[in-house]
Amino acid sequence: MSTTINSTSSAPVVLVTGASSGIGAATAEVFAAAGYDVVLAARRLNRLTDLSDNLRCKYPTRRVVSIECDVNSDLSVDALFKTISSDFGKLNVLVNNAGFGVYGTVETTPISVFQQNMDTNYLGVIRCTQAALPLLRKAVAGSTCRWGASIVMVSSIVGRRSMPQLSSYSATKFALEALSEALRLELWDDRIAVSVVNPGATRTEFGDSAKGNRPGTFLSFEHGMPSETVAKIILNAARSPKRNTYLTLAGKIGVFVQWLSPKLLDMVLLRTFRKSK
Ligand SMILES: NC(=O)c1ccc[n+]([C@@H]2O[C@H](COP(=O)([O-])OP(=O)(O)OC[C@H]3O[C@@H](n4cnc5c(N)ncnc54)[C@H](OP(=O)(O)O)[C@@H]3O)[C@@H](O)[C@H]2O)c1
Repeated sequence: MSTTINSTSSAPVVLVTGASSGIGAATAEVFAAAGYDVVLAARRLNRLTDLSDNLRCKYPTRRVVSIECDVNSDLSVDALFKTISSDFGKLNVLVNNAGFGVYGTVETTPISVFQQNMDTNYLGVIRCTQAALPLLRKAVAGSTCRWGASIVMVSSIVGRRSMPQLSSYSATKFALEALSEALRLELWDDRIAVSVVNPGATRTEFGDSAKGNRPGTFLSFEHGMPSETVAKIILNAARSPKRNTYLTLAGKIGVFVQWLSPKLLDMVLLRTFRKSK
């Protein structure tokens, strides 16, 4: 099901998955402000419709389309891209943002939760990327820039370093990093860029929608960065592709220490884990 406003436009087109809240909603707004036509996708159509109404008021020359989509479903993803194809005929930027978190130890997290987490955060990205490629190629054909189209993956700092009680979520983001490394080279000569953005804690609904109980030792999301800041980084990554962008100082230090001495980081994380028991 989709809601559209009709107008003809040669503006670049962005699809943001998981646009019904948090980083996805902020990203949709930042792209609209930057002159993009925007396709919003998520399961909660009422949220998307509110956001698209708001964006049309603020940016009346932009086309904004809301499409109900569950990235876990092949059929739903197929329907999403059929609509984009018929409404726009091309896609300049795909932001693979939809995802959710899981808290819990490996021992106590049910296999079904590991599967759901992988289905959304990893396989969902593959479904959308495969379906998007023909439309991204159409955008490349109409462009003379080095990069004719862009894919931006919303990973996490825990996609570079895992930690206790976050194994499921972290594994989905590690998988996303591996996928992105391969995809970047596969699409290099096709002029489709692949960038990965690695936020740290961000103020969104992530903590509420996560499965399992958040350990008390974890940084609370109220102290995280605003989703608008992450959204601006995503826009920059789409325009000036970058392998990875680490957003927080703690994230940058963590990645550096992980490279320098993973054992040292083990000891720091072990102390935190012991406190949470
Ligand atoms: N917040 C953080 O601290 C943080 C840090 C690093 C990375 N991230 C990543 O940032 C991305 C966005 O998360 P957020 O923080 O903005 O959390 P959020 O506010 O909970 O937003 C998650 C979005 O994903 C969508 N979604 C979840 N499952 C979906 C499915 N099966 N199909 C389609 N859409 C689905 C949700 O929409 P519906 O429920 O309406 O479908 C929602 O719009 C995620 O990939 C997350 O892993 C977040």
